[in-house]
This record gives sequence, structure tokens and C-alpha cells, in this order.
Amino acid sequence: MKELVRNILLNNKPKPQRKEASAFAPSNIALCKYWGKRDDLMNLPHQSSLSISLGNKGAHTKIAVSENAYDQITLNGSIVDGSTLFAKRLIHFLDLFRQEQNIYFNIETVINIPVAAGVASSACGFAALTKALNNLYQWNLSNEKLSILARLGSGSACRSLWHGFVMWQAGVLDNGMDSYGVPLPYQWPELRIGLFIISNKRKSLSSREAMQQSVQHPKIYKEWVIQAEKDFQSIYNAIKRHDFQRFAENVEANAQILHVLIQKTNPNAHYSLSETNKTIQKIKTLRKNGLPLYYTQDAGPNLKLIFLKENVDSVSQHFPNVFIIDPFAYHNPDYN
Ligand code: PMV
Repeated sequence: MKELVRNILLNNKPKPQRKEASAFAPSNIALCKYWGKRDDLMNLPHQSSLSISLGNKGAHTKIAVSENAYDQITLNGSIVDGSTLFAKRLIHFLDLFRQEQNIYFNIETVINIPVAAGVASSACGFAALTKALNNLYQWNLSNEKLSILARLGSGSACRSLWHGFVMWQAGVLDNGMDSYGVPLPYQWPELRIGLFIISNKRKSLSSREAMQQSVQHPKIYKEWVIQAEKDFQSIYNAIKRHDFQRFAENVEANAQILHVLIQKTNPNAHYSLSETNKTIQKIKTLRKNGLPLYYTQDAGPNLKLIFLKENVDSVSQHFPNVFIIDPFAYHNPDYN
């Protein structure tokens, strides 16, 4: 991993050029999921994936050089215990950037979505941290390079460097230099995403562990890769043509086969709660009755509803607590 970081930073500034810096990165929701790695350390996937960023929902991160010989992490106003898995992952990521001398940091992150509940909080968290480091050190790296670095923290973070639709091209190189996010040149202003939060509790099985188990079932896992590659093409083409039905049907089907795979390969993983299943039934019934409403689900109980602007009122009426996002409404220069 350090070699990859060296490849990217080359002889770029080894020391922070500022005392503190900050950055924002949006959360992203996978439309065609990434699941399973060909390299566990560098988070290199077996298949390409596609996502939509969530506008102003994401992570604001401030980083400052510390006078202490340890990193301090504050998440949503509370100091994170250094012995937690969350802190260890973050510190491990920071270790990659301690070059000639040991510099420590104070990191304050505010994430305005539920943490570790399958709403991609690690994606926006690592992307914002990578951008904040870039600002602190003044590396002036391209988003492509930042995407590779963010990927080392959490695979899906490599898609959180941009707004709108982003694909993560899987790449083929062993050194990981061709595996990064690429923004799609397509806008879809009528598209809406509804965050339907069923539980804010942290998930019991991380996606990292669940993925590892899935890959250990090569026959079943291979079927997933083949289908996910087909879904990728169908979803990509539907985005290009603004073909909502084709788009949403394929996004939903992709999430469903992911959960079948998870169930088969991780019999003890319970990402869905009874409320999740009830809500899925409700979506399907509403659809039968003529409302073009679909969903996707990641490694958590929460659902993301997919629909068009013309159905905002109906969706809000049926799901009063849904938080509706207009993914193409944000043009903050801070996040390109
Ligand atoms: O990047 P990770 O390790 O948090 O894994 C993300 C896995 C999914 O959210 C289920 C799929 C995806 O592509 O984001």
C-alpha cells in the first residue's frame, strides 16, 4: 500500500504546508454494487460499479497538525476511543501518509447521515479525509489520484470525489493504479433518491468481512460477478437514455441479487430487519398500483428509494419520514 501511495505522491510535499485544512465529500449510493475484492489490502474489486452522489449529504472534515504524539478523532462532536475498530481503520489510513517523520493529526468529522448503517458513511468519510489531506499538504493532486488514495480507506470512497453519476472502473493492474472513480457525463435532473432510515444502529458485520466470506464461495461468487457486469451495462445505458423503468428495475434487481449472495455466503448476516422487509413489500404493492417507485439496499437495513420528481408528493405521502435528495441540485465548487 505504501508503494502505491509513494507512486502517487512521488516527491510531492512530504510535510503539511498549512496548520489546518478542511474538505467536504458527498456520500454515494451504489446503483450497481461493488462486492468482493481481488486484492484485500488495496481494495481492488473484481467488477466495476456505478453510483450516484447524495448532494449535500456527506462528510465535512477538518484536519489539523497535532502537537501530541497521537491522532485524535472527533466524530459528530464526540471523541472516538482509539481502541475502536473505526479509529484503528482511520489511523491505519493516516499511517500511509506519514512519510519521513511522524506527524499526528486532530481530525474532526461531521457526517450528516447515519454512520455505519449502510448509507455509505465510510465512503464520504474517507473521501473527505483524503481531500482534506491534499489541502493540508498542498499536493494539488487530481481527483483521479485522490480517488485512488481514498479507495485505500474504503473501496466505495473512490466514487465520492464527484457529484452525480460516478463509475468505479475495476482496473486490471496489480499495483492498483487503474482502479478509480470516473464521473459520467450524464445529468438526470428529474431523478430523486429517498433515504428511508429504518435503523441508525451500527451494523454487526462489516461489508469488508461479509465480502471476504462471499469471495470464499467461488462458484456462487462468480455468478454474481457475471450478473453484476451485465447490470452495469444495462444501468449505464439506461442512464444515458433516461429510461427510468429500465434503470430502476436493474438497480433494484442488482441489490436483490447482492442480498441473495450475502445470505448464501454469510448465513449469519442479518442486514435486513423486519421493517426493511415490510417496506420492500409496501414499495412493491405501490408499484403494482401504478406508482413507479423502486429501491436499493446496501449492507444495512436502510433503503434508498428511487423515483422521479413528478412522484415526490406521492412518495412523501406514503413515506412521511423519507428524506428526499435531488442529486443534481448542488454545484458547490468545493466538491467539483
Ligand atoms: O466500500 P465499502 O467497504 O464500505 O463497501 C461498500 C459495499 C456496498 O455499499 C454494499 C456496495 C457499494 O458499491 O457501495
